[in-house]
Amino acid sequence: MKKKGMGKRAVRPEDEAKTFGEGLNFAAAEAYRLLRTNLLFALPYGALPEGENCRVVGVTSSLSGEGKSTTSLNLGYMLAGSGRKVLLVEADMRLPTISKRLGLDCKTGLSNLLAGLCGEQGVLQLSTIQENLWVMGAGETPPNPSELLGSDRMKAVLKSISPNFDFIILDLPPVNEVADALVASRLTHGIIMVVRKDYATRSSVEEAMRQLKHVNAKVLGFVMTHSEGQGGKYKSGYTGEYGYAGAKKGSLK
Ligand SMILES: Nc1ncnc2c1ncn2[C@@H]1O[C@H](COP(=O)(O)OP(=O)(O)OP(=O)(O)O)[C@@H](O)[C@H]1O
Ligand SMILES: [Mg+2]
Repeated sequence: MKKKGMGKRAVRPEDEAKTFGEGLNFAAAEAYRLLRTNLLFALPYGALPEGENCRVVGVTSSLSGEGKSTTSLNLGYMLAGSGRKVLLVEADMRLPTISKRLGLDCKTGLSNLLAGLCGEQGVLQLSTIQENLWVMGAGETPPNPSELLGSDRMKAVLKSISPNFDFIILDLPPVNEVADALVASRLTHGIIMVVRKDYATRSSVEEAMRQLKHVNAKVLGFVMTHSEGQGGKYKSGYTGEYGYAGAKKGSLK
């Protein structure tokens, strides 16, 4: 059950700049740095198939509005800040937010590329918030996002651009609402599950985990968003592989 008055939007438009990059408060920035460190441990280079050097990570959640795009953006920002070359892909073609938040072109992107309407160079944009952080916007909303994400063309695109990056982060839609994240999980080396405190329910997370397991997705860990910790609500914690046990202990309703 969602708490009364708890909408998807937790941040006032005028405070949006405080939700990513340099605008984060100290505690939130620390939490995302910790997420970066834990991800590097969860997915070391040695864990990649031979010949692959780019780690492809998907970010999803059980429900909409849990903080996936914010987590993807800040994770990308922190990884790029530590010298890695990062591509953040707005793979949520149904409800893209990242390009807009960063003031980038949101008209041409992944959907156009997958539809064969433009080339890779036409959709890679360098962000203005971090030197090594590149963004591929979602492009125009297609009628069939799941099919596009599951297409051979998507596989070929990732294969072709991955030698240029250390990390590719896919900001995906929620697992329990559309098939996109499940389809795309096959293209990743691992998935990060975002769980919004007092919003996602135990059954919503269990259902998402069941579906991810069904497609053999590797869930690397959990990020709890909207948790009231030191430094205020805008805090993210990465609980690691066994984070789900924490959820069972009662942090989820
Ligand atoms: N760790 C956090 N703490 C507090 N608020 C957060 C946190 N992460 C995200 N938010 C806020 O929650 C709202 C939803 O975030 P975001 O758009 O990242 O979610 P989403 O899961 O991508 O949503 P959608 O399913 O609609 O794509 C935004 O207002 C965002 O600023
Ligand atoms: Mg989103």
